[in-house]
Amino acid sequence: MTAVQARPAGWVGQGVDRVDGPHKVTGTAPYSGDVTLPGMLHAMVVTATIAAGSVTKVDTSALLTLPGVRAVFTHENFPRLNAGPQVAFGEAPPAPLQDGRVAFHGQEVALVVADTIQQAAEAARLIEITYAPEAALLDPAHGVAEPLPYLPDTRRGDTEAGWALADVRVGAAYTTAENVNNPLGLMGAVAAWDGDHLDFHDSTQWPVNVRKTLAAMFGVPESGVRVHAPYLGGGFGAGLIPWPYKMLAAGAARALGRPVKLMLTRPQMFKLVGHRPDTEHQVRLAARHDGTLTAIEHRAVSLASLDKPALGLLTAATGQVYACPNVATVERTVRLNRRYPSAMRGPGEAEGNWAIETAMDELAYELGMDPLELRLRNISADRHPGSGLPWSSNALTECCEVGAEVFGWARRDPRPSATRDGHLLVGWGMATAFYGAYLPVSTARITVYADGTAAVRTAGTDIGTGTYTVLTQVAADLLGLSPRQIDLQLGDSDLPDAAQSGGSGLASSLSAALQDAAANLRGSLLGLAGPDSPLRGASPDEVTCRDGGLCRTADPSASTSFAQLLADGELTQLSAEGHTRLPDSAETGMHQAGGFGARFAEVAIDPMIGRLRVRRIVTVTDCGRVLNPKLARSQIIGGTVGGIGMALFEETVTDPDTGRVANGTFGDYLIASCADVPDIEVLFAGGPDRFSPAGTKGAGEIGLVGVPAAIGNAVFHATGRRLRALPITVDQLM
Ligand code: MOS
Repeated sequence: MTAVQARPAGWVGQGVDRVDGPHKVTGTAPYSGDVTLPGMLHAMVVTATIAAGSVTKVDTSALLTLPGVRAVFTHENFPRLNAGPQVAFGEAPPAPLQDGRVAFHGQEVALVVADTIQQAAEAARLIEITYAPEAALLDPAHGVAEPLPYLPDTRRGDTEAGWALADVRVGAAYTTAENVNNPLGLMGAVAAWDGDHLDFHDSTQWPVNVRKTLAAMFGVPESGVRVHAPYLGGGFGAGLIPWPYKMLAAGAARALGRPVKLMLTRPQMFKLVGHRPDTEHQVRLAARHDGTLTAIEHRAVSLASLDKPALGLLTAATGQVYACPNVATVERTVRLNRRYPSAMRGPGEAEGNWAIETAMDELAYELGMDPLELRLRNISADRHPGSGLPWSSNALTECCEVGAEVFGWARRDPRPSATRDGHLLVGWGMATAFYGAYLPVSTARITVYADGTAAVRTAGTDIGTGTYTVLTQVAADLLGLSPRQIDLQLGDSDLPDAAQSGGSGLASSLSAALQDAAANLRGSLLGLAGPDSPLRGASPDEVTCRDGGLCRTADPSASTSFAQLLADGELTQLSAEGHTRLPDSAETGMHQAGGFGARFAEVAIDPMIGRLRVRRIVTVTDCGRVLNPKLARSQIIGGTVGGIGMALFEETVTDPDTGRVANGTFGDYLIASCADVPDIEVLFAGGPDRFSPAGTKGAGEIGLVGVPAAIGNAVFHATGRRLRALPITVDQLM
């Protein structure tokens, strides 16, 4: 699969099986919902049935006579909380149950706590809430468009001039639907207070941020909050934000003096832990007859909630891939009485890619040029087209060429609606992909023991992406041990601080922190070397960990075991911490970095019944060094399946009159099933990159990006019909 990358010399680069796999398949991996504590009560969230207004009355007296019911919390009796801290990409929405205000249908308005989950659910079903409804702002046409928190408008060159001097122009509107992350693992928490100390078992991609947020909101020191998240049943971004359910669990537990478990139900997962918001894009592209782009304009809007703006980033990738001198992006968010938006796999860039890469296909047809050829002519491989800085690496051309070769693109009949298989219309489409590389700072600690084993500790999480496995590989190479000799613990905020498992940055971040920790450990071990040690006088850069000891890199026979070094220092163990060191080039802005990809899709459409089948997908990704080809392949497959869902199925429908989620179950909200997913050929291009010390650029998000446009472009090739609104559904193909 990784034909392009060299055979690895160590554990990194090998397709090591998941080290946490046995725990997961035997049910011994503790998820938050598995935690049971003595005296623990169960909580059930009650959600609003209006989209705007306030709660005027909650009749709790009858509920409190029901068997097992211990408390009913509303805005009248829930603990008062402080505002949450401002954390970039991780701000909490307003604290729950602080006033009776309702800002969206489905918002938390009460919490029932009982001895059993059944009793809590029954009381939540019987609760009677009286509201004073107000007119809800549900129509985007009546909303106010505001700038995004993380992305300013951008402008380079002069798009009007570029538009004027072009030979061919296209312009259209594109939309994507609201998608919901909804990982398999229901999210929830178990909260237990001991005085001012909170022990909190949670579903999160960012334990350190949950600690920080809960400490601030409950007015206790951060050192008094411990967040456990050793396992997460998927996240796709849903676990990045400190959602109000966490405050509800912690607040109820504190008020009642008992541990409280609060798990969201599947329908609540559609409403209370974020989503990819609906987006709308206006795109204009212009080019010379030879395909040279002269103007790119991208105006985009995402829908948001009253109290939390959209993450945006719809235009973040626009103008970064192609060498166009004139680019303008404008992005806004419109606040409505809708649920809180947040990040979902490939956030923003996946939606923006749908618009830009569909428009590129339209431009190719206007030019009478092969869509792949149009990309190849415009890719800016050496330098970032805006800043002019060199790329840290850029294998996009190779992604396109390798993908085209494997897919057989050269055999494509360019005419729309010309390729048939019996009565089926067959189409081939492609798109490129970009996802900016991200290197947040984390800390990690390594401890070596006299028996030749090592412990590695960091607060970062494994959300199912393979962090346990790849960090074990990285540590094994750094320490000269086998993976079996590494004991890795993650997902505990008492461990060294770590960044979020998000933005495809954690593997890069933690690998770099381990490299730094290992260098510090070598220094400390050298300090233990006795007067007769062959290592005496060596510097940390001159030695390597190998076979359970330390040796001179230039002369491996000059070695001493960890056991001997520890004995020399009269120690039984030795620890060192390290943090992600940003390379000089990142600090001084010497280059630009991002992951790249090319996606090729074949669809077959039965025009009589509108049935669309994705028949095959070839996906090629440049994510820098591949730490583990088996797990990287899994990430790309998962992203591709998500991309098929976004293209063809996924759409949370909000009732325009009431603001209610109209399809908040997996019976109604469709996702790609096994029968919808063809064989996916996963290839990697490029190689170790200089952006991050580990050579990685991130493999989690980018797999999804580009897949919807490749499918949509294949639909056009099959049918001659340009569909610009996702998802593409049966009725559009009849
Ligand atoms: Mo990713 S959407 O930052 O979990």
